[in-house]
Amino acid sequence: MKIVVLGATGTIGKAVMELLQSKGHEVIAAARSTSPSIDITDPASIDRFYAQVGEVDAIVSVAGEAAFVQVDKLTDEQVQLSINSKLLGQINMVRKGLTRLRPNGVAVITGGFLAYIPAPQTAMIAMVNAGLEGFTKAAALDLTEGRRILIVHPPWVAETAAALGMDPSPWPNAAKTAEAYLTAIEGTKTGKPIFVEGFTPSGS
Ligand SMILES: NC(=O)c1ccc[n+]([C@@H]2O[C@H](COP(=O)([O-])OP(=O)(O)OC[C@H]3O[C@@H](n4cnc5c(N)ncnc54)[C@H](OP(=O)(O)O)[C@@H]3O)[C@@H](O)[C@H]2O)c1
Repeated sequence: MKIVVLGATGTIGKAVMELLQSKGHEVIAAARSTSPSIDITDPASIDRFYAQVGEVDAIVSVAGEAAFVQVDKLTDEQVQLSINSKLLGQINMVRKGLTRLRPNGVAVITGGFLAYIPAPQTAMIAMVNAGLEGFTKAAALDLTEGRRILIVHPPWVAETAAALGMDPSPWPNAAKTAEAYLTAIEGTKTGKPIFVEGFTPSGS
């Protein structure tokens, strides 16, 4: 399959790209720092990217920023970044990519555990993740010719937890997290949240 991996230079995205390549897929790495480059906060940049890449079998988004800040300390800019980047950026990546997505193709976007199990300082992240899940469930109903859409909700990833000074031991590493994206791509589900094996939140 020809697969765009948005965020392919990141902690999870790099592991997703490597896993997909190990399965023989052709991966087009996408980020602000790749060539062709893409900035998902700029709709024109997304259009330019797809014009260069052409038709694909899968669009996998593992990118987007959202503020990790106590709710009463959030600035207007941090609220706007969370919406423009992780929420709207991924929605536009899918929406604009649909004209390039072949029949039976799949779009996979990234939310996160915090949609289900919020923690202090994560109001923006939880809001965006829940919004992306709502988008996924509804957009699936509009897709045609076998096209699918799914959202992966990673828990903390061990590498990120370690970088934040947290205990990484309870969490899956990026390579294990990447398997959830492969499950989404190779499966038949649509309009559903996908969790890393062993990390499905109760009540989901
Ligand atoms: N790591 C975790 O523990 C964890 C847990 C749950 C959910 N998530 C979610 O998973 C996603 C990836 O997390 P991560 O930790 O792998 O992130 P990361 O290491 O910071 O990597 C982010 C990736 O996205 C790209 N990117 C960022 N902003 C972009 C933009 N505006 N346009 C295009 N590309 C952009 C970055 O490349 P450039 O800078 O070159 O553009 C990079 O490739 C995020 O949405 C995060 O919220 C992460």
